[in-house]
Amino acid sequence: MAYLRWRRFTELLSLDNPALGELFMRKRHKPIVAAPVETWDAEYQAGVYDRLSRSEQRHHHRLLAAMIADRWPNPRVLEIGAGEGVFYEALRPHRPARYVGVDFSKLAVARAETRLAPEIVIGEVKMLLGDGRDFQTDETFDVVVFSECIEHLGEVETIIAHYRPNLKAGGAVGLTMWLALKPLRLWHRLKAMGEVLDEAVINTPWGGGWLVAVVRPPA
Ligand SMILES: C[S@@+](CC[C@H](N)C(=O)[O-])C[C@H]1O[C@@H](n2cnc3c(N)ncnc32)[C@H](O)[C@@H]1O
Repeated sequence: MAYLRWRRFTELLSLDNPALGELFMRKRHKPIVAAPVETWDAEYQAGVYDRLSRSEQRHHHRLLAAMIADRWPNPRVLEIGAGEGVFYEALRPHRPARYVGVDFSKLAVARAETRLAPEIVIGEVKMLLGDGRDFQTDETFDVVVFSECIEHLGEVETIIAHYRPNLKAGGAVGLTMWLALKPLRLWHRLKAMGEVLDEAVINTPWGGGWLVAVVRPPA
């Protein structure tokens, strides 16, 4: 626990001071390597992400959903790397007008289709199999969400530019990110690109921590 507390301390320090983050970062020269779809499939098969449905693991979903609904009542949301569609469950009480979830794991998408079947049947929700790095749609949304996913999608500037045409006027990017020094580098780059509408950190007694934010990218 003492180590986790120390780690959280360094992460919080680095939020406003990226240079300190670099100082505390272990293996700082090693890039984040995105896992191939086979790895995700195997982990979903083994039940590694079953824990993501537990209440104690979903504070970041609930906070991001509330941040979104506060600015965009009945929001239209695209989620990239949507996994088993668990974020939608936090969005549901806010009565979203539309939710499209995209993931490249067949198993995750199949489970999301089961989970969200009532909304899929009435056409409010769609789950799609696709690679978030180059997924394309003509639909536009109030918010494009990356929940614990953006660090798997390559350069943050490239990915935001890719989804910019899918944002309605005044739309924004919603982000949740497991709090850790290396992924925070991406947060600092995203923050520098646009206007931060909301930014918060969640810290749990069991040692979990997330950054949650809504950012309006440049036009
Ligand atoms: C940690 S899980 C988060 C799932 C969900 N967003 C949530 O918050 O519960 C990351 C998800 O990103 C997906 N993912 C990773 N790389 C991807 C890519 N290139 N295209 C689409 N999905 C991807 C994985 O399959 C996995 O479902």
